[in-house]
Amino acid sequence: MKWICPVCSAAFSQSGNSVRCTNGHCFDFAKEGYLNLLTGNRKKGSETGDNKDMALCRRAFLSKGCFDTLLNAVDAVFTDHCAEESVILDICCGEGYYSDTLKQRHPQAEIIGFDLSKEMIRLAAKRKSGNAYAVANLFHIPLPDNSIDFAFHLFAPFDETEFLRVLKPGGILVSAVAGENHLWQMKEILYDAPYKNDEKPPKTELAFIEKRHAESKIHLDNSEDIFAMFKMTPYFYHTPSEGIRRLEQTPQLDTEISFTLYIYRKPEE
Ligand SMILES: C[S@@+](CC[C@H](N)C(=O)[O-])C[C@H]1O[C@@H](n2cnc3c(N)ncnc32)[C@H](O)[C@@H]1O
Ligand SMILES: [Zn+2]
Repeated sequence: MKWICPVCSAAFSQSGNSVRCTNGHCFDFAKEGYLNLLTGNRKKGSETGDNKDMALCRRAFLSKGCFDTLLNAVDAVFTDHCAEESVILDICCGEGYYSDTLKQRHPQAEIIGFDLSKEMIRLAAKRKSGNAYAVANLFHIPLPDNSIDFAFHLFAPFDETEFLRVLKPGGILVSAVAGENHLWQMKEILYDAPYKNDEKPPKTELAFIEKRHAESKIHLDNSEDIFAMFKMTPYFYHTPSEGIRRLEQTPQLDTEISFTLYIYRKPEE
């Protein structure tokens, strides 16, 4: 049990279906097997994370392997830098596609994931992968200092202080952002004058090691998949209605996908 008490940061011990810290704070496992470690006074960040519809769209889309280019790139960084029996953290893990697949590929690793969205974590825990999942806020991660060998962070808010705290000295952080041409052909349908992504790295003092690109093309042969992908993107919130109508009328789509991975190491003490 890697989780610590979100109220007082003391260690937990497990008894039956709940965990209790040395100061008596108690949390029950949900029936799917995850812990809800959000506390009322930790309100920084959005309060609930992604909703059920977004969670189901992400599940439907990712399970078709459409973003396996990114999964494989994260896996390659892990394999290049870490031992098989590492402790891996999936920061803002969503519905668990990446952490679940990594567990299948690296059964000796201990994998932990958290997300602010209960709907996402419910789906992740239902996978029964053997990974540990919790509802938690990345601005207050309920994990001990120096406990993680490899953390990955895909399309989510960034909190350098917390990431630095939970990584072991020498631990690796991979943060992925959308590459220049990510979903370019979808953007051409949505917008009259689409912009390329600027691939901005996160603002951090962590020691930068390297940057990698991962890209490929995907073919979506029905509008359900196209819309599921659209709903996973920030464009879902910022697209004029004519653009959305054009996308709704698109029966199939070939588009580039492109990711930039920034890789950091926590300095050895
Ligand atoms: C774009 S999704 C990416 C999910 C996952 N990394 C993936 O690629 O499938 C962003 C995720 O960040 C979560 N999130 C947003 N704010 C958060 C916070 N303050 N703490 C933890 N998770 C948060 C959302 O609930 C959502 O699941
Ligand atoms: Zn406590």
